[in-house]
Amino acid sequence: MVPKLRVLIAYLTYSGNTQEVATIIQDELHANEVETAVHRIGIDPPVDPSSYDIIFLGTFTWDMGSTPEEVKDFILEIGYKPENVAVFGTGDTQFGGDDLFCRAVDKLVKFYHSPWSGLKIEQSPRGKQEQLVKDWVEGVLYHGKSNAGKSKDTRTVKSK
Ligand SMILES: Cc1cc2nc3c(=O)[nH]c(=O)nc-3n(C[C@H](O)[C@H](O)[C@H](O)COP(=O)(O)O)c2cc1C
Repeated sequence: MVPKLRVLIAYLTYSGNTQEVATIIQDELHANEVETAVHRIGIDPPVDPSSYDIIFLGTFTWDMGSTPEEVKDFILEIGYKPENVAVFGTGDTQFGGDDLFCRAVDKLVKFYHSPWSGLKIEQSPRGKQEQLVKDWVEGVLYHGKSNAGKSKDTRTVKSK
């Protein structure tokens, strides 16, 4: 029997948009028979990310393209740079246009040298952006940079 992937979804939200994305990600992972654990940044006790096959890290963008302090604290708390971080986030183009839109996602993708493109959602993902989230999750699971184009049976991260 192939062991199930274990995935951590860690996110920060103030007004709920990033949480909505996290929920869609979780539902999509469950639909793919992936086990998930959720960590609410700034609320839940510290988590050990080393026991997960993929870490989905979600944040909104704040203050002229900044990453929220709680997310920075979470990064420090982890204390190392896992190589399996997939970054998602929400933002609003009304705050600085395309240049600053979801800038925190870009920063975290770069920081973690993420093998996956970051997912950027404008405000709530409900409605037509929902499919974007689902497609992105499928991409992370089955089409990582290192094995893009391989069959759907090939998972990006091998189970431990
Ligand atoms: C004071 C303030 C500054 C913001 N700055 C940015 C920004 O620089 N870039 C961006 O894309 N969104 C910006 N936003 C929009 C939020 O990132 C967006 O509303 C996000 O979905 C909130 O996430 P949450 O609902 O999970 O808390 C800003 C919002 C506020 C209130």
